[in-house]
Amino acid sequence: MRNVLLLTLGLLGGALTLAQATEAPGGEEPSVLPAGPGQEEVFYACTACHSTAIIRRSSFRRDQWDGLMDWMTEKHGMNPLEGAERTLIVDYLAQHYGPRTAPARGRNPFLN
Ligand code: HEC
Repeated sequence: MRNVLLLTLGLLGGALTLAQATEAPGGEEPSVLPAGPGQEEVFYACTACHSTAIIRRSSFRRDQWDGLMDWMTEKHGMNPLEGAERTLIVDYLAQHYGPRTAPARGRNPFLN
């Protein structure tokens, strides 16, 4: 009986480790990004390779974000973003991470 219990605990532990391994880098969740249309799309498209920190500390105009998508694809092998998904993602980035207007709007420096 005792052995069965230990075995069960061991299996549980293994499952937990697996669950952790499939999380995004740094254990981030979509809610790390501002809520709004495109939040999840950006999160899942972009955290395959790096955390969102690199996005959250950026500020680009819409056309620059758009160009960055091509750069990310050509240079870094991101799956090409096209059509409605691309529009959604670029709109989201431009809206939330557009050129900074002073003073920084309530950005938390410790999150960058
Ligand atoms: C296939 C891998 C991959 C994917 C997917 C990816 N990136 Fe990147 N990205 C990179 C690499 C590699 C770098 C360079 C990292 C470095 O310099 O440390 C980078 C750098 C960046 C930078 C910094 C650029 C600069 O010059 O300051 C930004 C911003 C960025 N990525 C945004 C995004 C966004 C937004 C997405 C989702 C739409 C995304 N990335 C998806 C690989 C990727």
